[in-house]
Amino acid sequence: MLTKLIGSSFAALILAAAPAALADGPSVFKAEGCTECHSVSAKGIKLNADGTLEKDLSHIGAKHDKKWIAGVLLQKVDNEKGDKHKKKWRGSKDDLKVLAEWLESLK
Ligand code: HEC
Repeated sequence: MLTKLIGSSFAALILAAAPAALADGPSVFKAEGCTECHSVSAKGIKLNADGTLEKDLSHIGAKHDKKWIAGVLLQKVDNEKGDKHKKKWRGSKDDLKVLAEWLESLK
């Protein structure tokens, strides 16, 4: 039982906690360097000046939930193309939670 609990996925654990502040999503997105490869044009978030656009994430939440998004960022779940995400998450658990919930809200 205990081993099962400990073995349960990192993403599930962090996402089980209380809802994070959606308002912090954009600042975490920028601080974690997501704008090197992604814009969120619907929210006025542009690509970094020296970035290369891989994908606009304006409507990511219409197709995927926060669990999938967090899994992709942790490279535990394959992205839409069936690949591992280009950049592995190095930030905090709290920031990942904020980011996944915010991206899920983008419909
Ligand atoms: C070095 C470039 C790069 C960086 C930095 C990057 N990504 Fe990505 N990301 C990609 C690529 C490439 C894809 C796959 C796009 C595709 O399927 O065409 C992707 C896909 C995704 C997807 C899944 C959508 C899909 O099409 O599969 C999400 C969600 C995502 N990124 C979020 C983020 C977040 C949040 C950050 C910041 C923590 C981030 N990315 C940083 C390159 C990057």
